[in-house]
Amino acid sequence: MDRLAPAETPLSPAIAARWSPRSFLPDAVPEAALRQVLEAARWASSAYNEQPWQYLITRKENEPEAYAKLLACLVPFNQGWANAAPVLMLACARVNFAEKGNPNRWAEYDTGQATSAMAIEAAALGLQIHQMAGFDAAAARTAFAIPEDVTPVAALVLGKPGPADALPEALAQREMAPRSRKPASGMFFAAAWGQPV
Ligand SMILES: Cc1cc2nc3c(=O)[nH]c(=O)nc-3n(C[C@H](O)[C@H](O)[C@H](O)COP(=O)(O)O)c2cc1C
Repeated sequence: MDRLAPAETPLSPAIAARWSPRSFLPDAVPEAALRQVLEAARWASSAYNEQPWQYLITRKENEPEAYAKLLACLVPFNQGWANAAPVLMLACARVNFAEKGNPNRWAEYDTGQATSAMAIEAAALGLQIHQMAGFDAAAARTAFAIPEDVTPVAALVLGKPGPADALPEALAQREMAPRSRKPASGMFFAAAWGQPV
């Protein structure tokens, strides 16, 4: 299913194609495609080139126990649809700089950038990523022995989007609802705060 962004200006194809499905086909993600998606994250920019992101990757087919363990960390609403996806990941941020150990206040920002790069690369391959805030970070930390100085930031699923009608009715409606964004006038200011571009 395609859900191209109804953007006000032309966008590069992968940015326009990226969206967050909840219906996924069960097909495994080919290894080359998974590698390509991860490589996109590796090449994201970061403050001081610290590259503070770390990802736990679980494939339903290859690591079913780890997949189930991570799935159990999601809130019930997300478990309900995310369990269809073949790949479930946890995006984490190392919150201190490696060299001096001082706090890196851009760690989560940079992790988001890396995940965004992944999502765009996935869209370029006909795959999609759906990010989730709805998970229990403490449970994930315990389940996977995540070190203290690493913060679980978001859970993600990756896979090929499936048909909306594979979802329960209410979710199917949301899957097909028009995509929307706030107006640009409240986001981009010209020279003075609050002055629309
Ligand atoms: C950090 C983050 C957390 C999100 N958490 C959830 C979530 O827990 N459950 C969910 O169904 N969608 C979640 N989403 C998906 C957003 O609702 C979705 O990105 C937004 O509605 C815009 O839609 P689009 O990604 O299709 O453009 C999350 C997205 C982001 C970036």
